[in-house]
Amino acid sequence: MFDEYGFPRDPDVDPSAPTLYTFVYCSRAAEGVDDAEVNRLIEAAQRYNLTCGITGVLVFGSGVFFQWIEGPTAEVRKLMASLHGDPRHYDIVSLDQSEDKRERLYANWQMELVGADDIREVLEDALECAEDENNIAALKRILDHLATRSLDSLGRI
Ligand SMILES: Cc1cc2nc3c(=O)[nH]c(=O)nc-3n(C[C@H](O)[C@H](O)[C@H](O)COP(=O)(O)O)c2cc1C
Repeated sequence: MFDEYGFPRDPDVDPSAPTLYTFVYCSRAAEGVDDAEVNRLIEAAQRYNLTCGITGVLVFGSGVFFQWIEGPTAEVRKLMASLHGDPRHYDIVSLDQSEDKRERLYANWQMELVGADDIREVLEDALECAEDENNIAALKRILDHLATRSLDSLGRI
């Protein structure tokens, strides 16, 4: 009921849950990055993530990536650095970075690839949950971009 400092515990926080770092972002696929390239990428990612306790989901559609990454803080931050230097995508928009005690959302997925016929639905869901003004603006920019261009031109296949 009370923590070691005498403050009431947050009833939503399970003290036995692991500390997880979460990084959620969207980005645009670089020219030439097609489904075959994404499949190769995901195979390597799953092998690596298994060794360092990272789980999550990668959504790819219309030339846009959306990825949820969760795991030990040091490991996720290392992967974030690699992602920022990876030429297979650009315009990385960070939607959430946080560390908290909670159970994993994707405990059994070393990195599941989910195809989105329409990535807009994924981004619209993210927009509904977004609270940070910069994130809201960034998501609206990507949605506007999707609305004003033909999806084929975004696919870059
Ligand atoms: C959209 C996207 C998602 C990625 N997701 C992962 C991932 O979940 N795990 C992973 O190890 N690498 C992932 N990668 C690959 C990394 O960016 C990087 O190439 C890999 O971690 C090797 O990094 P290093 O060359 O710095 O060692 C992803 C790359 C892209 C473009």
